[in-house]
Amino acid sequence: MPATPEVQTGLEDVVAATTRICFIDGKQGRLIYEGYDIRDLAARSTFEEVAHLLWYGRLPTSAQLAELKARFAELRTLPSALAERIDTLPISANPMDILRTAVSSLALFEPEETRPGPSSIGGAQRLVAVLPTILGQFHRRRVRRPAPEPRPELSQAAYLLYCLLDREPTELESRAMDVALVLHADHELNASTFSARVTASTLSDLYSAVTSAIGTLKGPLHGGANERVMELLDEIGSVDRAEEVVKAKLARHERIMGFGHRVYKVEDPRATILREWSRKVGESRGNLRYYELLRRVEEVVHREKGLYPNVDLYSGSVYSLIGIPHDLFTPVFAASRVLGWTAHVLEEYRDLRLIRPVAKYVGALDLPYVPIGERH
Ligand code: SDX
Repeated sequence: MPATPEVQTGLEDVVAATTRICFIDGKQGRLIYEGYDIRDLAARSTFEEVAHLLWYGRLPTSAQLAELKARFAELRTLPSALAERIDTLPISANPMDILRTAVSSLALFEPEETRPGPSSIGGAQRLVAVLPTILGQFHRRRVRRPAPEPRPELSQAAYLLYCLLDREPTELESRAMDVALVLHADHELNASTFSARVTASTLSDLYSAVTSAIGTLKGPLHGGANERVMELLDEIGSVDRAEEVVKAKLARHERIMGFGHRVYKVEDPRATILREWSRKVGESRGNLRYYELLRRVEEVVHREKGLYPNVDLYSGSVYSLIGIPHDLFTPVFAASRVLGWTAHVLEEYRDLRLIRPVAKYVGALDLPYVPIGERH
């Protein structure tokens, strides 16, 4: 049998591509988008500016930003046939399944946007613009409210909240969501982005690549963790029960959602920023219950397992305080990460190489073929 190099299960630490989009320094806990530190972008930029940065490799001028905002507003509306199709889907469905189905169906109405290659920038802008509308079309039907209007005056963050809430978002809520969208926009070769790049590397189209990514993000070890963090907080109930509940889970070798990371060996810088927003939004509501519970859970998990929080630990508390239903947390993650997925697909098209690793075969060899009549 041919010798194969040692198996890197989960492709851990395998360098599978070069990229200019995102750099993660897991030891220092730094996250860089196209040369800019995430702390600067989260504090001083907007999701629309970061979209321009990840697609074009530079922050926009005022004119370029105005043009991109207008483009997003134009591209928010769904084909009526797709809106009608979404309205036939079961309201009990998992919203990530709705998102995956709708993006996959959208391609049927827009073949020109899905052409593989640099022209896919049109499809990339379309998908970033329209994901909130898809979520709004589905969620508003669940709560018996009319389908969302394009609302061109709203930023992407405010528009997303308008689609998911039964009221206009406040300034603070829109800014909190804008920061969350910036923080979740990209994260190098995370599982869902890697799915998108594998799909694009076969020269399949952008909408197929994003459909692959949505299915991947749905998993609780990836995008689904922030929903489960809120379930944990509901289970704990009060700060004085945190130690007992968390230690019992750890004793049963259960994973505490929102902690640990394949790349960060210290605190995820996004968790640092979201912890602050959880406190700010909690204070604005006069409700620091989630924030205080999470701080206590952090203390116990760090003491018992030496683990640090990741991006999913505090995001759910911000979304919950704003009034977003828990089953829409991962779709909100997708509404941001679709930017990173599309940026990586465009990068893959520019420097295409079919992604095809090998496996170490550990099965039997040279078995004699036994006709069915002689098998037992
Ligand atoms: C995201 O890749 C990305 O960049 C993802 C992401 C992005 O922006 O795209 O950052 C978004 O997915 C964040 C992660 C969200 N998922 C969770 O919070 C789920 C809980 N976390 C774990 O499942 C885990 O930490 C992972 C999946 C995130 C990373 O797992 P690894 O790198 O495969 O680590 P591992 O499973 O090998 O664990 C190493 C040790 C083990 O202990 P031992 O069994 O060796 O004693 O750490 C323990 C694990 O049991 N451990 C945990 C734990 N995470 C790791 N123990 C308890 N709770 C945890 N959360």
